[in-house]
Amino acid sequence: MTAWLSVIGIGEDGLDGLSSAARTLLGQAELIIGGERHLAMVPDDGRERLCWPRPLKAAIPEILARRGRRVAVLATGDPMCYGVGARLSRVVSADEMTIIPALSAFSLAAARMAWSLPDIETVTLHGRPAEMIIPCLYPGARILALTADGGTPGTVARILCEQGYPDSRMSVVEQMGGPAERRIDGIARDWPDGRAAELNTLAVECIAAPGTVAHPRLPGLPDDVFLHDGQLTKREVRAATLALLAPLPAQRLWDVGAGAGSIAIEWLRSHPNNKAVAIERAPERCALIARNAAALGAPLLEVVEGSAPQALAGLGAPDAVFIGGGIGAEGLVDTCWRALPPGGRLVANVVTVEGEKTVFECHQRLGGSLTRIAVCRGEAVGPYTGWKPLMPVTQWAAVKP
Ligand SMILES: C[S@@+](CC[C@H](N)C(=O)[O-])C[C@H]1O[C@@H](n2cnc3c(N)ncnc32)[C@H](O)[C@@H]1O
Repeated sequence: MTAWLSVIGIGEDGLDGLSSAARTLLGQAELIIGGERHLAMVPDDGRERLCWPRPLKAAIPEILARRGRRVAVLATGDPMCYGVGARLSRVVSADEMTIIPALSAFSLAAARMAWSLPDIETVTLHGRPAEMIIPCLYPGARILALTADGGTPGTVARILCEQGYPDSRMSVVEQMGGPAERRIDGIARDWPDGRAAELNTLAVECIAAPGTVAHPRLPGLPDDVFLHDGQLTKREVRAATLALLAPLPAQRLWDVGAGAGSIAIEWLRSHPNNKAVAIERAPERCALIARNAAALGAPLLEVVEGSAPQALAGLGAPDAVFIGGGIGAEGLVDTCWRALPPGGRLVANVVTVEGEKTVFECHQRLGGSLTRIAVCRGEAVGPYTGWKPLMPVTQWAAVKP
């Protein structure tokens, strides 16, 4: 099918900044769709217009109903960079669309800061909790963040202080590329109250306070960064477990019997598009999981309070399942195994003989590997050092054929 839908990126300089190809497509459109800000840039000449409804997906059927007619969508900056183009490409095939990008906010802000784009962290906090910036924090990190609104810079300043980066330099660039462009520079600890302009992009240069421990995105965070009541998969075992769960970008984990949520949180930290559900029956542990998730930069962790397997009903299909508790529950392993696609990973850790009996049966029935992990940590014994054993963990791991 020939292209009927034009997706045209536009900046704060409005029609003046459009290429002649973009102007032609806009000029020929029978229907123009955009946000209020975008539609205000186009003089009203009587053609049909549609302002994005909330939620935006409500407009999708209207757009698809025009298939074959000339429709132009105006989008901020680069429509394929956290923009509406990405959304439309899920329902309209590439050969039906002409996409003409303008400069993204990342490109504009990188130019303002004179930062090399591939050498920095880029993150969107638009429509997402500001805690999503936490996995990007490390000494010397340079971060460009798309923001939700004028309140985001203040929220990020608070997060930087809480995370041990109070001296970080912050720059907010408002309405880049237009006549009202303005830049505000400051330090996180002194960031003024009050809001920036609603359209802004944030640049952060992370400066750690003395004693701040930086957390890599690779699994195996220290145990003491998690709030827990003892039900925590310890660091050495956690790293080994995540290696077998093998998170790939955009995949979903079920963390069954999540305890402090450490496995799900490290799964999420490994890639911003990852998804995870923590299933935990004890309400006080659910509260710990939620607090750990926010503090460690995994605010999108879904916490489900309830007992598995019943609590698994209706959850989005997993790519990997970790069973850290409740393995003896009737039907649990089979429910998880059925939910996995081919290539999906199941890992179960047990510390009791009863748990071992279950995983031994599972191993015989479903295959995979059994591993015994016995960790001893060196600790002071008077003036000497001795080995303090942690409870040995038996691990069953299987990949669905
Ligand atoms: C949904 S994202 C869309 C990004 C867009 N597709 C792009 O390429 O820039 C919207 C966010 O981008 C940032 N942004 C977009 N245009 C901007 C501008 N001209 N000045 C400052 N920030 C801008 C803001 O953080 C805004 O909340």
